[in-house]
Amino acid sequence: MQDAFKTVEASQVTITELMLPSHSNFSGKIHGGYILSLMDQIAFACASKHSGFYCVTASVHKVDFLNSIDVGELVTLKASVNYVGNSSMVIGIRVESENIRDQYVKHCNSSYFTMVARDENGKSVPIPGLILDSEAKIRRFLRSIKRQEETKIRQEKFKAAKFDVNEAELQILNKYKVKIEL
Ligand SMILES: CC(C)(COP(=O)(O)OP(=O)(O)OC[C@H]1O[C@@H](n2cnc3c(N)ncnc32)[C@H](O)[C@@H]1OP(=O)(O)O)[C@@H](O)C(=O)NCCC(=O)NCCS
Repeated sequence: MQDAFKTVEASQVTITELMLPSHSNFSGKIHGGYILSLMDQIAFACASKHSGFYCVTASVHKVDFLNSIDVGELVTLKASVNYVGNSSMVIGIRVESENIRDQYVKHCNSSYFTMVARDENGKSVPIPGLILDSEAKIRRFLRSIKRQEETKIRQEKFKAAKFDVNEAELQILNKYKVKIEL
């Protein structure tokens, strides 16, 4: 029997990994795709711990690579549940990289993975609620709601079936490097 509500701490996950030459591109920097793969793994671990079910990645918002990562650095990923819906969770992930010799730490990336809990038949299942016991956790939860609302508005506005090119929209394109040939 699962708890109806769980703390954020109960499912927090941290992993640290040494960046090897096999993860790098020709200039000795770590491939972004490799970091994304680690992020997906930790999001899965955190979401599965909170929900008690295997989870799938539904969406990612959004990945800005703020600093490059070099071979030989220690990369640490921290994941925690920021938001829960009925079967979905937003997992906040912070990626930092540390130079072993001088201990200089760079913030490389913060991102939000939406994970959905699925049962053995592949159906979405209800998950435990979240205990919000600090202002930071309330802020993160509300920020997730806001992000979802903004995504919905953007998706509605640009739905192919509804979208009409009008004069105002064409005006916006004036300052971009495009040639309209309708
Ligand atoms: C994501 C997925 C599970 C959603 O399936 P679905 O049939 O739409 O599921 P449901 O309608 O039951 O919705 C389940 C939840 O997912 C959320 N959801 C669905 N698509 C979403 C998306 N693109 N972004 C964020 N949340 C999403 C819904 O809002 C709902 O949340 P709630 O239960 O908390 O209210 C399904 O599209 C899927 O399996 N996608 C592939 C996942 C995968 O393979 N990932 C790895 C990529 S290779």
